[in-house]
Amino acid sequence: MISIKQINEEDIDLCYELDSKTISLWSKNQWSNEFKKEGVKVFGLLVTNLVIGISVLHVVLDEAQINYFAINRKFRKKGYGSFFMKYLIERCKKSNIKKLLLEVSHTNVTAEKFYNRFEFSTVGIRRNYYKDGSDALLKEKKLKTK
Ligand SMILES: CC(C)(COP(=O)(O)OP(=O)(O)OC[C@H]1O[C@@H](n2cnc3c(N)ncnc32)[C@H](O)[C@@H]1OP(=O)(O)O)[C@@H](O)C(=O)NCCC(=O)NCCS
Repeated sequence: MISIKQINEEDIDLCYELDSKTISLWSKNQWSNEFKKEGVKVFGLLVTNLVIGISVLHVVLDEAQINYFAINRKFRKKGYGSFFMKYLIERCKKSNIKKLLLEVSHTNVTAEKFYNRFEFSTVGIRRNYYKDGSDALLKEKKLKTK
């Protein structure tokens, strides 16, 4: 059974653990800072009781940035990422968010392809943005609110 729940800082270990096993984007301290930011909501995608995906959504006025999005390796290519992304898009539409933004490394072909399928378009590049020296592609999707 698939479900989505909001995650609070007390479950920071779940986030850190999944991140360590996927893209290793943030330290525990950085995760803690995310939870404290105004407008940030952290979501977990669960299969029965196991958290297999995490996303971090940062809402500022009528825009939202996806600061984090990852699925546990063992559960990829089964449609879970798409299910989770559709949920975020619908949630944003219902909250009258006009634009969804994210950053992805230009070397992350799988993720870029995934976002392109959701009609995110590249609107800018940040050179040498990641630890490994790769560039960040800034992507956005305009939302038609309901
Ligand atoms: C990008 C990411 C979130 C995609 O998650 P996912 O759960 O694999 O996504 P889906 O299963 O919905 O779709 C992925 C592919 O599997 C395919 N797929 C979906 N269900 C499938 C099924 N039952 N059988 C075979 N293939 C399937 C999709 O068509 C899609 O194909 P594509 O390669 O043409 O895009 C995942 O690869 C990930 O976590 N990557 C690391 C984190 C990351 O890079 N995040 C972005 C930067 S923050």
